Amino acid sequence: MEIIRTVGWMKEKAREARQEQRIIGLVPTMGALHAGHMTLVEHAKKHCAPVYASIFLNPTQFGPHEDLSRYPRPLEADVEKLTAAKVDGLFLPEAKEIYPHGFSTYVHVEGLSERLEGKSRPGHFRGVATVVLKLFEIAQPHFAYFGRKDAQQVRIIQQMTRDLDLDVEIVVCPIVREADGLALSSRNDYLAGEERKAATILHRALEAAAAEAKAGVRDSLELQRTLNKVLGGETRARVDYAEIVDAETFDPVVRIIRPAYVLLAVHVGRTRLIDNLLITPVGEELDVEL
Ligand code: PAJ
Repeated sequence: MEIIRTVGWMKEKAREARQEQRIIGLVPTMGALHAGHMTLVEHAKKHCAPVYASIFLNPTQFGPHEDLSRYPRPLEADVEKLTAAKVDGLFLPEAKEIYPHGFSTYVHVEGLSERLEGKSRPGHFRGVATVVLKLFEIAQPHFAYFGRKDAQQVRIIQQMTRDLDLDVEIVVCPIVREADGLALSSRNDYLAGEERKAATILHRALEAAAAEAKAGVRDSLELQRTLNKVLGGETRARVDYAEIVDAETFDPVVRIIRPAYVLLAVHVGRTRLIDNLLITPVGEELDVEL
């Protein structure tokens, strides 16, 4: 697998592939790769050649008191995983390559970026949208792969793609979980012992809500009560938000009559975890995706 460190070289590779009528797939990541990331690669490999992955720990999406400095950086293991998965190229730029001296242009997806994750992490989505737009420009993908784990992030990237008429199709892949339900995340590396056990509280709360939805409960207050009850049972967990929102607008919903997300952000010790459940009305029934 080729490691591509500069914007110029990545653009050159992408230009060549496009000239040869090949279908470029891009999997953007911040590294510390796990099976969740690797399913994005697998999806990309099915439909695209070449497939490029990027690893860039994007400083603009971290707040001043967030975990940028302690974020795991197991580069060698990451390269091994991508090589084994037959990724064609790894775009691995340094920060100054993406944000050279004097950089001053940012992308802001209004409205959607201010709520939930955006409210808890001011400026986060501005950093995400900016770097993702740059990655699209640099790697020129036909298809770009994202996880539903970060549901609001995907929604914002879709909005940006639509608003700016970007020539890329956004593919959303399902959430990959540990055997006990914990959604895989690079931040799970921070969890050990009792905290690791407590971290399953997100999945347990979502499962309880999913069971109710399956039984036909559409009233979000009722679902909300269930979430609060389960989350309240874990003393190590501090809830940031637990909300039921429209899957398109991310506005709170009263009754589930259109696709909706149950979104959770919970602190376990010093680690902030997010997870979600997608509820889709299908006729009289509610379909649930954990
Ligand atoms: P990162 O957290 O490294 O995640 C990269 C991609 O992997 C995202 O699309 C994310 O949703 C997906 N992912 C993470 N955990 C997953 C899981 N358990 N199951 C399925 N997919 C999962 O998200 C980012 O990086 C950054 O914000 C980025 C988009 C790269 C911009 O900097």
